[in-house]
Amino acid sequence: MRPPLLSVRRRPVAVANWKMYLSATASLRAAESIRTLGARFASSMDLIICPSFPVLSDVRRLLERSRVRLGAQDVHEEARGPYTGDVSVEHLRHLVRYVIVGHSERRRFHHETDEQVARKAHSVVRAGLFPIVCVGETSEEHAAGVTIERVRAQVRAVFGVLPVLDIPRLLFAYEPVWAIAAGLGAPASQPEPQEVAEVAGLIRKLAAEHAAPRYAERLRVLYGGSVTAETVRSFVSEPGVDGVLVGSASTKPVEFVTIAKTVLHAVRPSS
Ligand code: PGA
Repeated sequence: MRPPLLSVRRRPVAVANWKMYLSATASLRAAESIRTLGARFASSMDLIICPSFPVLSDVRRLLERSRVRLGAQDVHEEARGPYTGDVSVEHLRHLVRYVIVGHSERRRFHHETDEQVARKAHSVVRAGLFPIVCVGETSEEHAAGVTIERVRAQVRAVFGVLPVLDIPRLLFAYEPVWAIAAGLGAPASQPEPQEVAEVAGLIRKLAAEHAAPRYAERLRVLYGGSVTAETVRSFVSEPGVDGVLVGSASTKPVEFVTIAKTVLHAVRPSS
């Protein structure tokens, strides 16, 4: 029997998704800076960095005795098998605490489906880790006005395979594909903060319908897409938005730590 869910206070979250931007040396340097700059407040929130697979072990060693957490950028949905080049939760479970699944770059360049992403989330949860599930509409879907329908399908696919008791372990990142930077220094346009709040509300409503409100209250919803130190506050001041998933700006440790501090102070704990 699992322990009862005690409170609805959700920890604020800032995730650095370094994608394939940084070399091994640069990753270690950036992780070290974030460890130092975040030392004072990392225990008050979930401050998470997601480097590339080959440097996870080294970054993990560097973060020993630090409150900065480690995440992976992807995982295969199966625990083992004939999947050349893929990485399993079995490889990751002793290295990281979080795993990003369903990032739009995986959906787009690796043709991942909603069902596959859902299976990945399930395998992450089964391994005792926390999935950060990315959802969001493409620019065509945005133009067609089907954001809500698209996100609903992505979220329902996950709920469809996950035991209800595991719903509070989920983090969803709402990342409109058209808002994600196409490279370093190439910020895209962004949704209105109220649109982000609307999607966060939708995700919790779906969780409440699928499971129960007490489960929905525990899952966390982040925003991602060209977040910078200048724009972060407007998103995390919205009710129900618990943090951010940051790509390009997270490769600059000072900016990422500034973003994280803003999240910590701006998130409304129980909204
Ligand atoms: P970006 O990336 O902040 O560079 O737009 C966010 C993401 O893709 O997770």
